[in-house]
Amino acid sequence: MDLTTRYLGFTLPHPLMLGASPLVDDLGAVRRAEDLGAAAVVMHSLFEEQITHDRQVGEQVARHEESFAEAIYFTPHRGEFELGPDEYLEQLRRIKDAVKIPVIASLNGTTNSGWLEYARLIDQAGADALELNAYRVATDPNESGDSIEKTTADMLSSVKARTQLPVAVKLSPYHTSLAHFARRLESARADGLVLFNRFYQPDIDLDELEVAHRLELSTSADILLRLRWLAILSAQLNLSFAVSGGVHSVEDIVKVVMTGADGVQLVSEILKHGLHRFAELRSGLEHWLESHGYHSLDQARRSMNLANCPDPKVYERTSYMRTLNSWPPPGPQSG
Ligand SMILES: Cc1cc2nc3c(=O)[nH]c(=O)nc-3n(C[C@H](O)[C@H](O)[C@H](O)COP(=O)(O)O)c2cc1C
Repeated sequence: MDLTTRYLGFTLPHPLMLGASPLVDDLGAVRRAEDLGAAAVVMHSLFEEQITHDRQVGEQVARHEESFAEAIYFTPHRGEFELGPDEYLEQLRRIKDAVKIPVIASLNGTTNSGWLEYARLIDQAGADALELNAYRVATDPNESGDSIEKTTADMLSSVKARTQLPVAVKLSPYHTSLAHFARRLESARADGLVLFNRFYQPDIDLDELEVAHRLELSTSADILLRLRWLAILSAQLNLSFAVSGGVHSVEDIVKVVMTGADGVQLVSEILKHGLHRFAELRSGLEHWLESHGYHSLDQARRSMNLANCPDPKVYERTSYMRTLNSWPPPGPQSG
């Protein structure tokens, strides 16, 4: 069964890749991911905050050489990140030496400023591609959606000016006009989009009266939001698409490919069940396609997107009305 896919200009034997996560900080895990059949790996992000923090420490050290130790140990955020910027580049070089599959580095931040210089350093360190993650919670009532989108598009242009690497933008679903924004990124020379960032919502710890952050892994229910937007965007934009969020089973993979994913990133499933899931899901995908009469993955690709599905209105407002009306009328047991 031919599972070949094209993603960000690479021809991959199949679409399953290890998404951005701390797993990639462990060289042994990256090797195992390749051995067990991952088609590519995405590195943990290098965060803008890490880079600016590192620079501030450097400046403090230069200004107060005699109190070097204090400058280092009393700067906020120390120890919050696994790898500092230099270690990140070193880890990238090590991964590139260790595996043959494409290695996609990840930059994560919100401002169009000097930290994006790391795109060049990442390119020089040997990455095959770059993910630009603009994870942001828009809290400022004085900042418009247009201004936020412009900043992300400008960040992308800055990255593209610094490197020839293919760049995918990892997006949030919470934009007022996602299709328009995606087109704006296409015009700013994005090579691909990753749909979507997962937003980790804060909770309230009632015993401690604190805001609690808990990292919940995804479930297959998370793919529904992705299916809709893959279907809408893949039909209208000339970009590579990867899905991130909620892919756990063979059926999930088939659905995201049918709506438009060229690449399928897995994190929660691998954290829960281990790297051998790459091999299982790949053979499961072959089996599913064979038993449903497909000759290749390409035949299934985008077959259910906005351009190709039998009733495109299901992705739009009509589906909302139909869904509300589909709830069964109250039966005798409902009272
Ligand atoms: C422990 C952990 C660390 C993560 N670190 C990053 C990161 O550094 N950069 C990033 O873009 N996404 C990061 N993610 C998000 C994942 O790449 C992915 O988008 C998300 O987990 C949804 O995919 P999943 O449903 O397969 O888990 C992380 C996720 C987890 C669970």
